[in-house]
Amino acid sequence: MSVSIDSVSFEYGLGAAKGGLPVLDGVTLSIEPGAFVAVLGPSGCGKTTLLKLVDGLLVPTKGRVEVNGAPVRAPSPEKAMVFQHPSLLPWRTVDGNVAYGLELTGVGGELLKSRVKSSVELVGLGGFESYFPHALSGGMQQRVNIARAAALDPQILLMDEPFGSLDAQTREDLQMEFLSIFRKTRKTVVFVTHDIAEAVFMSDFVAVLSQRPAKVKELVKIDIPRPRAPEVRDSSAFAGYYRRLWSMLHRPEEGAT
Ligand SMILES: Nc1ncnc2c1ncn2[C@@H]1O[C@H](COP(=O)(O)OP(=O)(O)O)[C@@H](O)[C@H]1O
Ligand SMILES: [Mg+2]
Repeated sequence: MSVSIDSVSFEYGLGAAKGGLPVLDGVTLSIEPGAFVAVLGPSGCGKTTLLKLVDGLLVPTKGRVEVNGAPVRAPSPEKAMVFQHPSLLPWRTVDGNVAYGLELTGVGGELLKSRVKSSVELVGLGGFESYFPHALSGGMQQRVNIARAAALDPQILLMDEPFGSLDAQTREDLQMEFLSIFRKTRKTVVFVTHDIAEAVFMSDFVAVLSQRPAKVKELVKIDIPRPRAPEVRDSSAFAGYYRRLWSMLHRPEEGAT
């Protein structure tokens, strides 16, 4: 499914007397079906807000968000959001947590069982189905979080710094696994991160946002063939993209003093 973000501005209301907080200022981004687009930007610039607008949890103050040409008005089953912190239900097992979202959408019976089973296996948690979250490592909890989204079988995955709280080793392992899982199914992925290396390693395009109120400073195509092995990180192409994105992020804002 395609995602079109067209001249989107957004303000959080602070009450009539105080006016609003402008967060996004004319963001335009067009995402082809099956593309993997990373959104890279400084902390607090509006990345999470942008994902919520695509999901339909928020509505633009100005501009339009469309999925396959239809305006987004609310969350819907073709989109799933993966948050940075897994927020698993502590009283439910791995299976129970993965089943939860499906139960909310009214899926039950054999279909529920088979979707849960395949999603748990997909993220490599076979054998841990009856574990409770407290008995899982951070990386395993994040796998459950991804399995929960995968079980919904969305066409569009909206991921908000999903590996941000993990150690470097686990993060790199999950980046690889995520790519090998989701490239097969050609889902459209919007992946928010503030990690330049993660953005380059995973994406087809990187959208660089400015400081709040954010605009798209630049859209960089990452021309590195897939599948991407860990050695990609040692290539000169990778280093070139890294430097280019680094300097974009650290370049003084136009108009700033
Ligand atoms: N519910 C809210 N109400 C008011 N302001 C908010 C709300 N959520 C986020 N903000 C503000 O909007 C700005 C952008 O937030 P966010 O989209 O979370 O940034 P990022 O994900 O890039 O770190 C921040 O200044 C934040 O304080
Ligand atoms: Mg955020």
